[in-house]
Amino acid sequence: MIKIAAEILAKSKRAVVFTGAGISAESGIPTFRGQNGLWTKYDPEEVASIHGFRRNPKAFWEFSKELMIKATAEPNPAHYAIAELERIGIVRAVITQNVDMLHQKAGSRKVLELHGSFGSLECLDCGAEHCWDEVLPKVSAGDVPTCKNCKSFYVKPKVVLFGEPLPRKVLLEAIEESRFCDTFMVVGSSLVVYPAAELPFIAKRSGANMIIVNLEPTHADLIFDVVIYGKAGEVLPKIVEEVKKLKSYT
Ligand code: APR
Ligand code: ZN
Repeated sequence: MIKIAAEILAKSKRAVVFTGAGISAESGIPTFRGQNGLWTKYDPEEVASIHGFRRNPKAFWEFSKELMIKATAEPNPAHYAIAELERIGIVRAVITQNVDMLHQKAGSRKVLELHGSFGSLECLDCGAEHCWDEVLPKVSAGDVPTCKNCKSFYVKPKVVLFGEPLPRKVLLEAIEESRFCDTFMVVGSSLVVYPAAELPFIAKRSGANMIIVNLEPTHADLIFDVVIYGKAGEVLPKIVEEVKKLKSYT
């Protein structure tokens, strides 16, 4: 299956890679579902919804520590493999549900962050921008950071919580890329959260070649031409190695 995936990608000029938490698992960042997923320990409604955040920001900050401590996480071979596919002109864009910015750290240039990122923070009440240096001391001490401008308790990283709309411009661009691509490769996602999970179906309807690399089966496996069960950090570098061999013959 790795060779077939490589043959498809070697002929692609406008491939799109769609990633989820599974691609960052080997960088030490916990996934949400599946074995030991974060949602087995936390209630997403409580810690990752905008209503939960408004009700009790402390619960959100407690939960975020699980993700934030990984802020020192490094890209793994899967992230580098995807950046390499962009460098050799095969991948046009990465569409990610992840908020860890590891694709950019690995060198990917066009990254569409559907669920935002932990990169910066804003006050929900007055819109004041905040950087981590301003809030980390409070968060590390287990307190809720307050807005430097209006003293509100609702300073939040620019990540999309359940109940919030996705960034409109990013979503529209991701839909365009999914419609326009000639190959759509999913890496490390359970494909259960919409509207992100609609994108593979859009690509399929547009006639793209479909590849998925995931540790476990997903409900959408049937729409893929190539289904590879395995760890992204092991599979992706093998695919890129095969692609480079094929490209060297052409
Ligand atoms: N390599 C490849 N796949 C992996 C690996 C790995 N090393 N480890 C886990 N996986 C797979 C799991 O089998 C699972 O199917 O990655 C998938 C991760 O699924 P989720 O945890 O549901 O993550 P994701 O699909 O990104 O969730 C989407 O849900 O909670 C929200 O906003 C959150 O962006 C997230 C969204
Ligand atoms: Zn404010």
